[in-house]
Amino acid sequence: MIPTDIFPPRLRLAHTPTPLQKMERLSRQTGVEIFFKRDDFTGSELSGNKVRKLEFLLADALAKGADTVITCGGAQSNHCRATALAAVRAGLSSLLLLRTDDPANPPPVSGNILLDRLAGSEIVWITPEQYRAREEIFEREAQRLRNEGREPFIIPEGGSTALGAWGYVAEMQELAADLKHLDGGDVKPTTVVCATGSGGTTAGLALGARLSGAAIRVVGVNVCDDRDYFVAVIDGICRTFNDTWLPGKSAVIPPYDIVDGYVGRGYALSRPEELVAIRDLVRLEGVVLDPVYTGKAYFGMIAELAKDPRIFGDRIVFIHTGGLFGLFPVAEQFAGLV
Ligand SMILES: Cc1ncc(COP(=O)(O)O)c(C=O)c1O
Repeated sequence: MIPTDIFPPRLRLAHTPTPLQKMERLSRQTGVEIFFKRDDFTGSELSGNKVRKLEFLLADALAKGADTVITCGGAQSNHCRATALAAVRAGLSSLLLLRTDDPANPPPVSGNILLDRLAGSEIVWITPEQYRAREEIFEREAQRLRNEGREPFIIPEGGSTALGAWGYVAEMQELAADLKHLDGGDVKPTTVVCATGSGGTTAGLALGARLSGAAIRVVGVNVCDDRDYFVAVIDGICRTFNDTWLPGKSAVIPPYDIVDGYVGRGYALSRPEELVAIRDLVRLEGVVLDPVYTGKAYFGMIAELAKDPRIFGDRIVFIHTGGLFGLFPVAEQFAGLV
């Protein structure tokens, strides 16, 4: 169990605990027991994994007297949308650095961008090259706000910091309780599979699995970059987490695996077979994934199971981390499939 006295302050924003649902037909089809942890049910506007991290990040922003949060992401970032909406609920303003090829011609106001706009976020469009140097832009924008007498609070990409990882430490505690209830005692060996986009979810799950002491293995399917990149990011988050909340145990990085090979055409670019997998799951289970994160991770999980049905053991929990609003701006890609 995780000692409650080490939990940082938390602002309750997410609708939790989320349901753990068995995918009966998918389990029969694959020969493996597959459950979905429905973190797409964490809220309507706040749907997805990011709100779990924001519970801790925004509590910190409020404690530090901030009035504006600044964060960054791709044009259709779920993290930025969740931050914009959660900020409103917390009484804060938001400024989003959104990545696009041509900032002079930003993408249409659809999907997450529409929600960012509705929430009244200030949007600063930046190029992919500027995004790589985003620390400087964070600082520049924070200074501009300070010059206006405001108090900014920077949330790094995806909310993937050691503090943000607490959201998924808490989620793992919730999942371990779900599984204990299901198994009527000790948790049977289980593999948790999630999409890895900026690393915080995977790091939090791995830390949470170790702290819970349950026989839960954590596997991330990276949807961008590569395995080496994410091992460096996730180990870094875990090290900072350990140094901050578990001093004395800082050398212990919890185990986790990254399954590489499913980035496909690149971040937020879909292959027809990924879209077919999304469609087929809707028709099999009535569950809708997004093309950027959960669809790719699910495609990777199914492809690995096709190679070796026992690769993840006898029971899998796939974390549905949300992202549905990212489906609608790419509707035309489904032409011919639906
Ligand atoms: C819907 C969705 N799923 C999964 C992820 C990946 O989570 P993380 O960034 O913590 O790796 C993200 C964000 O990047 C996301 O928006």
